[in-house]
Amino acid sequence: MGSFPSLNARGEESFESWLIQITEALAAHDAENPDSPAAPFAVNLIVHRSNNRLEEDLALCVKYKVPLIITSLGARPEINEAIHSYGGIVLHDIIDNSFARKAIDKGADGIIAVAAGAGGHAGTQSPLALIQEIREWFDGPLLLSGAIGSGASILAAQAAGADLGYIGSAFIATTEARAVQGYKDCIAASSAKDIVYSNLFTGVHGNYLKPSIEAAGMDPNNLPESDPSKMDFGSGGNSDKKAWKDIWGAGQGIGAVKEVLSTADLVARLSAEYHAAFSSLSSSYKAN
Ligand SMILES: Cc1cc2nc3c(=O)[nH]c(=O)nc-3n(C[C@H](O)[C@H](O)[C@H](O)COP(=O)(O)O)c2cc1C
Repeated sequence: MGSFPSLNARGEESFESWLIQITEALAAHDAENPDSPAAPFAVNLIVHRSNNRLEEDLALCVKYKVPLIITSLGARPEINEAIHSYGGIVLHDIIDNSFARKAIDKGADGIIAVAAGAGGHAGTQSPLALIQEIREWFDGPLLLSGAIGSGASILAAQAAGADLGYIGSAFIATTEARAVQGYKDCIAASSAKDIVYSNLFTGVHGNYLKPSIEAAGMDPNNLPESDPSKMDFGSGGNSDKKAWKDIWGAGQGIGAVKEVLSTADLVARLSAEYHAAFSSLSSSYKAN
């Protein structure tokens, strides 16, 4: 499945025009390929008081019956009810077990555990600790995100107890992504040592590519702390440079990304690696 934040549509492009384009293209694909229908798609809604488009974007998700909604930075029952009204599914982004409980208590259907090393607004907990704690009480849909860049890591997420892997950064380095070429090339050339965790750019801690911070004239190893009360999803955050335009977000898993590929080729690589890791584990298990 593919997903995108509703806030990515701005300026001349409207979120509604994207929803029309996506639903029409998927319906056309399904009509032509009844035996292999398209996967559902997902939209991310930022449920934070600074997001002044939330009501409008939620209404559009309901109108176009977006199959899956990813909510982040706030769990609200009325949003879950609106999505459930047309049969949609809500997965909520969390960075620790207590937020996971709150999300399910407020009516989310499943959880996306954002562990240490994830691109964007990452957590600090080990994926193993996070999944272990959530699985003690939750047997519903659980996705793991953070530094997954290979098919073997998707299998590892499942082995740890997650149902699905959730990948961000690796898909930025694809030909279809609308990131600038320098950003894609930087992901392909970088690895975990090139990532810095800072709250300077949006008020919330996230992982960023050091070369983009250097290019903006700052020392990535000496960034000031930001004031969380200035957290703002309507503007560029707390520095002169705009996250995510000039300061490029990426997670620690990008060492696995060696080149910019088409999305289909990246998915084929992940799939081949997943099956190879599975076979290798099964044969070593049998041998023992
Ligand atoms: C540049 C960038 C921007 C992101 N923006 C959002 C966002 O707006 N909303 C959201 O829920 N997650 C966002 N994410 C986080 C991803 O949804 C996902 O949790 C993360 O990328 C997974 O870790 P990975 O990048 O190591 O694969 C962003 C990630 C990156 C790299």
